Amino acid sequence: MVSENWIEACRLEELPSGRRKLVRINNIEIALFNLAGVIYAIKNRCPHRSGPLIRGFIDAAGGIKCPMHGWRFDLRDGSSERPARATVYPSKVENGVLYLWV
Ligand code: FES
Repeated sequence: MVSENWIEACRLEELPSGRRKLVRINNIEIALFNLAGVIYAIKNRCPHRSGPLIRGFIDAAGGIKCPMHGWRFDLRDGSSERPARATVYPSKVENGVLYLWV
């Protein structure tokens, strides 16, 4: 069992506003998004059939659509109108470093 902890993901300057970045923590691929200064972190495997959410389409309401079959997930909590929920990770920034609770 892997215990959860705050783990360094990247420096914030590597993820400027409007950009996305893929990181790997504890062997988990996590897609990071900076939407107008707000950071979101979501597991890079769509719960439907493992589509790469890093390549998803962001909408103005803070959702991401999987590039494979279009299921939409809320970046804030991973919820969806589909019968699945994506895994999201809390984040914090300290001294210019982005940490995820993984
Ligand atoms: S794999 Fe994401 S919607 Fe099918």
